[in-house]
Amino acid sequence: MFQGELHLTTEKNNKEQMKRILVTGGLGFIGSHTVVELQNSGFEVVIIDDLSNTTIDVLENITAISGIKPAFHQIDLRVKNDIHAFFENNTVDGIIHFAAFKAVGESVAKPLDYYENNIGSLVYLLQEMKDRNIDNFIFSSSCTVYGQADELPITENAPTKPAESPYGNTKQIGEEIIKESCKAYNMNAIALRYFNPIGAHKSIKIGELPLGVPQNLIPFITQTAMGIRKELSVFGDDYPTIDGTAVRDYIHVVDLAKAHIAALERLINKNNKTNFEFFNVGTGTGSSVLEVIKAFEKASGKSLNYKIVGRREGDITAAYADTTIANKELNWKTEKDLDEALDSAWKWQLKQ
Ligand code: UD1
Repeated sequence: MFQGELHLTTEKNNKEQMKRILVTGGLGFIGSHTVVELQNSGFEVVIIDDLSNTTIDVLENITAISGIKPAFHQIDLRVKNDIHAFFENNTVDGIIHFAAFKAVGESVAKPLDYYENNIGSLVYLLQEMKDRNIDNFIFSSSCTVYGQADELPITENAPTKPAESPYGNTKQIGEEIIKESCKAYNMNAIALRYFNPIGAHKSIKIGELPLGVPQNLIPFITQTAMGIRKELSVFGDDYPTIDGTAVRDYIHVVDLAKAHIAALERLINKNNKTNFEFFNVGTGTGSSVLEVIKAFEKASGKSLNYKIVGRREGDITAAYADTTIANKELNWKTEKDLDEALDSAWKWQLKQ
């Protein structure tokens, strides 16, 4: 057996040994797409979700896409005893932790709810990992940790800035807790700093399901085009950008989901360079709000009712990723562009 063959065999064996993955928040927007990609890559999935921001139908829809029904446990991760009981009865080889509250505005009004849920659940999971020698942890982080970066595109070397909201703070504190735990207990973790995830699976069986009035741009656009909302408010046209509206890096949720598989395989195959790593997960391309509106109008064939209003508090001018490090280290890159993402988001909205 030559060297390369040995390496390949080892990788295969590693994957086969370590194939049962716990996905918390696995019925949510990014979680559900990641479950499908995990199944496509040959992993067995067990989902924990409390159904606080999704519905049980998503489990059936995942099953319809992949042909495999993942195990599912309805557990509120704030309840330490329930987490403990889960791990008493289940063996897993890795954890992808999505379950968290994510509404920025709400987090300002209810900071303790955010700290209890987002930080409490993280600590309980890490405690179980430590006690049971479970390794391989992937954390949903956010580009919000960079605040308004001084340089664009944003590299992983950009400093983090004080969080603008309790939500953003839970991502920063979360990363710190994981980093310190990895060091102390010799565990391995990767935080993925997401830019703006949008779109839906090409089957149009899973997608984003915002509760109530959407806070994020794309669901607000698609609901406005459907006539559910009267008009879109464009928050600010006086930013120092190409057309005055704020710029973000919108990444197709399936591309984002695939980054999790790449990160997980990096840990399983022990290709990580340090106990705790973090990567920017974006496309590398920034789009302004007006550019997104134009692209949406093209994708949907609908003209969108919108008006320019004042800036939204806490919004930054521009954020888009430098993906060089993620592309190289994760051996991953995006395959879908904004048009395809908006097309799928629109088809998903039409189906609702
Ligand atoms: C926000 C959070 C981010 C979080 C992400 C996912 C902030 C500063 N950032 O990202 O931490 O991870 O949501 O939930 O809160 N826009 C409009 N009209 C609308 C809605 C949005 O013009 O009705 C604009 C915003 O001003 C922004 C862009 O569209 O420029 C994208 O907004 P949004 O989808 O809410 O995402 P972020 O604010 O970038």
